[in-house]
Amino acid sequence: MSKALEGIKILDMTHVQSGPTCTQLLAWFGADVLKVERPGVGDATRGQLRDIPDVDSLYFTMLNHNKRSVTLNPKTETGAKIFTRLIEECDVMVENFAPGAIDRMGFSWEKIQEINPRMIYASVKGFGPGPYEDCKVYENVAQCTGGAASTTGFLGGPPVVTGAQIGDSGTGLHLAFGIVTALFHREQSGKGQRVECAMQDGVLNLSRVKLRDQQRLAHGPLPEYSQHGQGIEFGEATPRAGNDSGGGQPGWILKCKGWETDPNAYVYFITQAAVWKNICDLIGRPEWKEDPGYAKPEARLDKIKAIFDAIEEWTMTLDKFDVMNLCNPLNIPCGPILSMKELADEPSLRNSGTIVEVDHPERGKYLTVGNPVKLSDSPSDVERSPLLGEHTDEILKTVVGLNDEEIAVAREEGAI
Ligand code: COA
Repeated sequence: MSKALEGIKILDMTHVQSGPTCTQLLAWFGADVLKVERPGVGDATRGQLRDIPDVDSLYFTMLNHNKRSVTLNPKTETGAKIFTRLIEECDVMVENFAPGAIDRMGFSWEKIQEINPRMIYASVKGFGPGPYEDCKVYENVAQCTGGAASTTGFLGGPPVVTGAQIGDSGTGLHLAFGIVTALFHREQSGKGQRVECAMQDGVLNLSRVKLRDQQRLAHGPLPEYSQHGQGIEFGEATPRAGNDSGGGQPGWILKCKGWETDPNAYVYFITQAAVWKNICDLIGRPEWKEDPGYAKPEARLDKIKAIFDAIEEWTMTLDKFDVMNLCNPLNIPCGPILSMKELADEPSLRNSGTIVEVDHPERGKYLTVGNPVKLSDSPSDVERSPLLGEHTDEILKTVVGLNDEEIAVAREEGAI
């Protein structure tokens, strides 16, 4: 079976997380990703958060599967020539250096286009054009400047960042979508183009329901926020909503049996209007089915907290999985809070290829997250990440066209 992006060559100048997430996705779909790394140094994450001395970190391995590694310093004379050849041979170049770094290497977008007019040049930056366009940005800066932090956390508490890497991996995902779209466009136009994604924009895109609420505030309070039911006034901006569902169906995180000692003995419970009667029966409050104070969603709005307290009395008697097993047949949406330990051990995720065990020559076996996007005709097996410069000679010979002697000279000059 062929892979969807087979035949596409990616000149991968990415580092840390956002860019590597993007090129890893493309590699899973079959693109040949040539990861360019600084000679003797490599992607900084190879050495960050190491759990085993002198072995590539999980931070690196889990973001760089299915790629080939070539060491190259485009700032040397020979390195610049090799880099130019790689631009000629590749379809897409991806980078997420600080603003201006690729220009400082001597490869502006104009020059790249001159070398290869079909090249798609994709970048992640912290901010788009504007006052902060020159700033360096990491994950939590993006979460804070993109609207996620101001709307996450509990009312009255400080802003909170989320564990999901919506700034880095989220922007990498956006960029991959932009690249594939530009490849599709190139089929008609015959030309490459620039693809840019700012982390602030990516986070804001993922927080768009909060901008929805910002505008709704101009027309009155937001009834689905539990603060409304508690009589707490809204301020000027979309508030932090705790564990409110964010949609039209109230939800909250409730304690389950064992919560006193297990930090993840909780369940997310949604009081979906269509199954209200099922909920009443399940938690032992059948009288609420017909009570005018509870029967209709609008009537329940000022009692949401008390209702969840009552549901919690019931969930606290049960294991979180039992809650789900009892709710599912009644169409009551809920989800146990799963720890990373539970996810790592979950057989269905292993079977679907979402959690994958990979063997690495230096670290041995480890777990990673496989491709979350499944294509029926384009399998994406996870292959271990490359060692630093593992494919340098191979790439210089087969892609760039150098011979052994030329490679030896380049190595002596420190270009590779
Ligand atoms: N050979 C020689 N030099 C190389 C090289 C190579 N193969 N690859 C990179 N370099 C150099 C670059 O030329 C640059 O040097 P310069 O600043 O002298 O021009 C430097 O290494 C890389 O710089 P930079 O990107 O500034 O690294 P940093 O570690 O200081 O900053 C980030 C890291 C992530 C903050 C920054 O890259 C950034 O803001 N990126 C954009 C936003 C982003 O993606 N952030 C999320 C990362 S997960």
